[in-house]
This record gives sequence, structure tokens and C-alpha cells, in this order.
Amino acid sequence: MAEDLNQKYGLNAAHSEVVSACQVVNPGDALDMGCSGGRNALYLGQQGFVVTAVDVNANALGQLQSIVSQEGIDTITPRMYDISDATLDADYDFIACTVTLMFIDSSRVDAVLADMQQHTRVGGYNLIVCAMDTADYPCPMNFPFTFGPGQLSAAYKGWELVKYNEDVGTMHNGARLRFATMLARKTA
Ligand SMILES: C[S@@+](CC[C@H](N)C(=O)[O-])C[C@H]1O[C@@H](n2cnc3c(N)ncnc32)[C@H](O)[C@@H]1O
Repeated sequence: MAEDLNQKYGLNAAHSEVVSACQVVNPGDALDMGCSGGRNALYLGQQGFVVTAVDVNANALGQLQSIVSQEGIDTITPRMYDISDATLDADYDFIACTVTLMFIDSSRVDAVLADMQQHTRVGGYNLIVCAMDTADYPCPMNFPFTFGPGQLSAAYKGWELVKYNEDVGTMHNGARLRFATMLARKTA
């Protein structure tokens, strides 16, 4: 069994939805949007994906780059990229965006989703996990963006929703709110 690089470098385990998605999504070209220190990128790399890992945090990217260099990994490329630009320049089989969209300016989210969709190959997948603000669980955090009920599924009309829920979850600080969780496959 391959060495657990997340554990070796003191990173949290990959997001549970990334781990679950890997039961469904075959390895290919992956984009990790908002990669932070690289917990998901390293996991995807170990599953056989060729990963572009983007973030605006230079320190986080530096941390991931240093792991990639130390381990001699040539299948993970950390890159500075502002997601809100919505100007992806390559196509992917899998785009993962876990707990990141809520940090994007709300006026840019439609463009970001459209860009992700456009740059996903037919048969490829998007994974999104994002905070919601609902009447029963008002979002207690001051995020620039949160999804409303049904908003994420509506944005993926025409895609196959392999997994979709808006379940209540708990943040690290104990805050309870709903999260839109979606694994969707581009069918045409
Ligand atoms: C809560 S962390 C989530 C990290 C990772 N996706 C995960 O599941 O562990 C959110 C990340 O999004 C990044 N981020 C926030 N706004 C961004 C933007 N406009 N463009 C790129 N990355 C951004 C932050 O720097 C941070 O690393």
C-alpha cells in the first residue's frame, strides 16, 4: 500500500467527498480548486490522477510545492490562480471544489460554475461542497457566498446528478449549517 503522504506531512485526510468520488470517477486529468495545503491534490495524485492544484494563497501553494518536490511527484502541479477569474485554460475529467466556493464573490459564482462546466470533458465530473444559507439553518458565518435551496442542482441542469444532498453539517468551529454536496457527470 502506498505511503499516506497527508499523514507524513501533517495534513488532514482528504475531504470525505473526494474519497467517495474516487469510488466512481476513473483517474484522469483533475483540477483541485482551492487546494490549500494540498490534502485533496495529494490524495488524487496517489489515486492516479494528474492534478492541477490552484489557490490564491502563496503560502499554501508553497507548502504543496515543497511536498511535491521532496517526493519527486511529477503528476501534481500547484498553480496560483484566482477562481473568480473564471478563465480556466484546459479541460479536465474531474474538477473538485470542496468548501471553497463560499469564499468567492457572489457576483462571480455563476461565471465560475459555467467555466467549470465548459472545461469538463464529456463523461467527466464536477464535485462541489459549499455552505448554504436556508430558512431552517441560516448560515452563521459571514461568507461572501452561500447557496440557497435547490440552487446548485438547478445550475447543473442537464448533468447527471450522481450524488446530491443539502444535508446539515458541522464546521470545525461547531457551527451547524446546510451544505450543498454534489457529484455531477457531464453527459453531453
Ligand atoms: C477552506 S479551504 C478548502 C481547501 C480544500 N478545498 C479542502 O477541501 O481542504 C478554502 C481554500 O480556498 C482558497 N481560496 C479562497 N478564495 C480563492 C480564490 N478566489 N481563488 C482560489 N482559491 C481561493 C483559500 O486560499 C483556501 O485555501
